[in-house]
Amino acid sequence: MLTVPCGRIVALLAACSVVITLPAQVKEHPIPQVVKKDGRFALMVDGAPYLMLGAQAHNSSGWPAMLPKVWPAIETLHANTLEIPVYWEQFEPKPGQFDYSVIDTIVTQAREHHVRLDLLWFGTWKNGSQHYMPEWMKADPARYFHLIDKNGHPADSPSPFCTASQELDIKAFTAFMRHLKAFDPQRTVIIVQVENESGTWGSVRDYSPTAQKLFDGPVPASVLQAMGKPADASVTWQDAFGAEAEVNFHAWAVATYVGRVAAAGKAVYPLPLYANAALRDPIKPGAPGSYEAGGPTDNVIPIWKVAAPAIDIVSPDIYMNDPAQYLKVLELYHRDDNPLFVPETSGGATVARFFFSALGLQGIGFSPFGLDYSNTPFVPAAAPAAPPAGAPASAGAGPQDQFFPTAQNYRLIAPMMRDIARLNFEGKLQAVAEESGKPANTLTFGNWNAVVSYGGGRNNRAPVANATPTGRALVAQLGDRQFLVAGYSCRVDFRPAAADKHRQFLRVDEGTYENGVFKFIRILNGDETDNGLNLRGEPVVLRVSLDVY
Ligand code: DGJ
Repeated sequence: MLTVPCGRIVALLAACSVVITLPAQVKEHPIPQVVKKDGRFALMVDGAPYLMLGAQAHNSSGWPAMLPKVWPAIETLHANTLEIPVYWEQFEPKPGQFDYSVIDTIVTQAREHHVRLDLLWFGTWKNGSQHYMPEWMKADPARYFHLIDKNGHPADSPSPFCTASQELDIKAFTAFMRHLKAFDPQRTVIIVQVENESGTWGSVRDYSPTAQKLFDGPVPASVLQAMGKPADASVTWQDAFGAEAEVNFHAWAVATYVGRVAAAGKAVYPLPLYANAALRDPIKPGAPGSYEAGGPTDNVIPIWKVAAPAIDIVSPDIYMNDPAQYLKVLELYHRDDNPLFVPETSGGATVARFFFSALGLQGIGFSPFGLDYSNTPFVPAAAPAAPPAGAPASAGAGPQDQFFPTAQNYRLIAPMMRDIARLNFEGKLQAVAEESGKPANTLTFGNWNAVVSYGGGRNNRAPVANATPTGRALVAQLGDRQFLVAGYSCRVDFRPAAADKHRQFLRVDEGTYENGVFKFIRILNGDETDNGLNLRGEPVVLRVSLDVY
């Protein structure tokens, strides 16, 4: 199909008498989508399951002049997707005038760097506030009004009942999506985030007269049903939900607004859309008011699902180090009605391993925040070349580098990303990360158990724990007795489920993936297999054939 950008060339050709060779036609790729099969989700990109190995740029890095500090980081990380904001204040500098230039620059440069994009629409909400509304809107708070707090004061947060703001957000977001559809037949942009951490800090809901009237009115039937409450056409929010009434009401109000923006954009270009949440403590949640209210926190996901059906995914921004909390969040967002996608998390050494935990719950993507060079004095001219096979996995980022743990993960997975995404979608993959104080994890695969242990060293010492908990592994079943194994800082061994049987390795191939193809390095045996398979710091992949005796 001949696409829009070629239109100008066609016009030129018509005006010329000389023969000009047309550039290769831009092939239109299938529109990315979220699909579900046999209870599992996949993000389909170019018609096949895709695993987003993401990195999010800093908030003020989505400007052409900043991109030279972004791309080297993406290359260093071996990321396949950049998450980067699109600012409403830049996009609509004057009412109704849309400036596509920055988006076009980002998309064009992403193509040049062979990287996909997750564009973040910083619209009405950014971290609970209206700071990215265009200047001319912020200057007119009477028209584009804020939420009113319990004391009757305007809060630093937009009102979800401001239809004037909502209409403009709908128009701007729709223009943005329409433009993407025309400009991006290659589907460089694979997913879009609608708003950013929408909701409100410092007030549990809007207390304006309009909001109060709705709060005192009946709860929509869909909300009652979603929250497991009996149908009742006249029950008020307070009577239906008690202590959770205000936070549920605000979630409904915010989700309804965001859902309308999302639906309008999706109607013109049906890319996958998601909304991200600033979380509450997943284990000991405080009372409403102690966390950002209104966004898709775990307690109100069902409300978001019914009030914003155009949002395909609600996603957690996980800034927690404690494994119990981290794993609980993953569990809460891995639902039958919601694929697990972590669009923000801290990039530090002890958190990167949870990428494997997300994979273990069929995660479709993972993206540490703030991984660009805009805040560092040092910007490499280019990412260092990949080390030769067998060299430490510090390619592009030394162990001292904050990017190292994520680079290590993505360097291992990127060349086999499609296989990993497919195996996970088919339910054949399990993955796990080390939890402090837990020396081993067992993954069950029918007749076989894969035991992942930590800190055991080279010989047959009992597993303990790594000095810092950095162990992580994935195991995927390729055949009846064949497995693929990869990871770092741990040992993987297999045990037959039948207690009277013992495992023997028929063969263990060590290799690396290159562009989706397994490249054999050597057969492991002897000390390298007798006590299990040690995964250290190299980005190697093992293909294991087992038997019992
Ligand atoms: C979460 C937000 O979603 C990001 O945009 C950014 O502000 C980070 N917090 C800051 O750490």
